[in-house]
Amino acid sequence: MDWGLENRLSRIIKPQDNRALMLAVDHGYFLGPTEKLENPKKVIGPLLKHCDSLMLTRGVQRSSVSATTETPMVLRVSGGSSIIGDDLSQEDITVSIEDAIRLNASALAMSIFVGSKYEYQTVVNLGKLVSEAAKYGLPVLAVTAVGKELGKDARYLSLACRMAAEQGAHIVKTYYCENFEKVVQSCPVPIIVAGGKKIPERDALQLTYNSIKAGAVGVDIGRNVWQSEHPVAMIKAVRAIVHGNSNVDKAFKLYQKLASEDSKNTQKSKGNKPNQNKNKPNKPNQNKNKPNKPNQNKNKPNQNKNKPNQNKNKPNQNKNKSNKPNQNKNKPNQNKNKPNQNKNKPNQNKNKPNQNKNKPNKPNQNKPNTPKPTPAKK
Ligand code: 5RP
Repeated sequence: MDWGLENRLSRIIKPQDNRALMLAVDHGYFLGPTEKLENPKKVIGPLLKHCDSLMLTRGVQRSSVSATTETPMVLRVSGGSSIIGDDLSQEDITVSIEDAIRLNASALAMSIFVGSKYEYQTVVNLGKLVSEAAKYGLPVLAVTAVGKELGKDARYLSLACRMAAEQGAHIVKTYYCENFEKVVQSCPVPIIVAGGKKIPERDALQLTYNSIKAGAVGVDIGRNVWQSEHPVAMIKAVRAIVHGNSNVDKAFKLYQKLASEDSKNTQKSKGNKPNQNKNKPNKPNQNKNKPNKPNQNKNKPNQNKNKPNQNKNKPNQNKNKSNKPNQNKNKPNQNKNKPNQNKNKPNQNKNKPNQNKNKPNKPNQNKPNTPKPTPAKK
């Protein structure tokens, strides 16, 4: 491995324990101002020193992260579709290598949509990105995106992760699932687990713990940190599992302690703030004696008066939804009438001899070097 590539990778997966804590704040690239990430600068500021690396887009990096930071950046370079568009899987590469280098990216990240309409495009783009990035010693992190129609089980995720690794991705980010060990074992490069939608803090810590126990090198967690009431407490608790070998009980106790301190500090700072207007003498009403200004718009014609209301006949895309428009509501189920192609296929592995049966155990190159965390108390 070339020095530059190895050096960049070592900033993301820490060589001391072969583990990684990545903070994901790239959600806006297709979700816009995601809940509690409306102001990325405010969110990132207090969390930056607690993560090993930050996954984000170039727009947020330039606008919302101090260039003096020592935290390495994992730059998302794919995009193109939004949550209200036709097909989320229609992504392309949106950032040039030159710009990624200008931004001093430690790795590039992009999504592949295995099993979707744009599978081919996204997988070929991954191969091309790896080839281009290799010229500059830049590692590539492939995200195995999951959509509504795409599964999240070990069979699907093993396929997607393995395909990403075969294209040359240096790290694969995927989702946790039952039998996750199988996903890890069949992927020859390190796996990082995404947090997914917000769940209770203890459950998110359990997910972190389970992922590491199953062989993932770490987590790339977003909503479960910054949508928590106490983001810093939460990232510290996640860190205790990823780098401190804490079990879930210990990490959750740490979260509770830090969260309660955080609440007290917030209360205190609210209580100590003097009401700045309390003792101020009343300002005279500066407009009191001013002559009335004529209403400058009074005689202006209403320019919109005769314009047709362009939205009048548009269906309200959000009508029955909480926050996200349901893109599939009126879409025919494309798989509905498709024959299940696997239904009658014989299981090709069924009668294959187990080639590893008599082989000595190879050390798992992806597994953490440090002792495994002790199982959580039930
Ligand atoms: C979306 C992404 C996100 O970064 C990823 O989902 C991680 O964030 P979260 O923990 O909120 O799921 O890559 O494609």
